[in-house]
Amino acid sequence: MSDRNKLLPLGISDFKKIRKEQYYFVDKSLLIRDLLNSGAEVTLLVRPRRFGKTLNMSMLKAFFEISDEDTAQYM
Ligand SMILES: Nc1ncnc2c1ncn2[C@@H]1O[C@H](COP(=O)(O)OP(=O)(O)OP(=O)(O)O)[C@@H](O)[C@H]1O
Ligand SMILES: [Mg+2]
Repeated sequence: MSDRNKLLPLGISDFKKIRKEQYYFVDKSLLIRDLLNSGAEVTLLVRPRRFGKTLNMSMLKAFFEISDEDTAQYM
């Protein structure tokens, strides 16, 4: 689908849903690199309301988790 026809992901904070379905997504994946490089044991993400905190957490979860989809190809 061309970018023109994409939908705004209003109220959607589920990374996989936004990527699998045709929604606009502002790529914030460099956050993953920053977190890995920070070396911190704990990180506090302080941002205003509706800034994408929950969506970023969902993106991190999708990046780090080993899903059934990943393991299925080795079965
Ligand atoms: N990277 C992104 N690309 C596209 N849309 C985004 C992105 N991040 C956030 N949004 C939009 O902003 C909305 C709010 O995102 P999210 O729920 O992650 O914010 P939040 O910081 O957790 O908000 P709250 O403080 O209310 O819990 C999403 O539903 C989506 O519409
Ligand atoms: Mg939130």
